[in-house]
Amino acid sequence: MPLVRYISADGNEYEAEVPVGNTLMQGAVDNMIDGILGECGGAGACATCHCFVDTEWSHQTGSAGDSEQEMLEAIPGADERSRLSCQIEVTEAMEGLVVHLPVSQF
Ligand code: FES
Repeated sequence: MPLVRYISADGNEYEAEVPVGNTLMQGAVDNMIDGILGECGGAGACATCHCFVDTEWSHQTGSAGDSEQEMLEAIPGADERSRLSCQIEVTEAMEGLVVHLPVSQF
């Protein structure tokens, strides 16, 4: 299972082994990592799973689709690294992936 590093806005780092095929949101929720809520269960409808993916990893995570992009544009503080973590499925190639968490999901 790839090891994913979730880094909170205040710099605390949490590591979680996330099964291939699970999403980054599931990885955070299953490991009780604060900062990712996932209130809609991964349907892409709540944006409480907002995260920032280091640009050096964007070739592995891909880019946001149209509906995800629309959601991201409505989030205060979102930037070009922003993604909905429920829309990123973990692959073996994501070993060591760094995910930054926002200050707040609201
Ligand atoms: S969990 Fe709701 S949009 Fe990702």
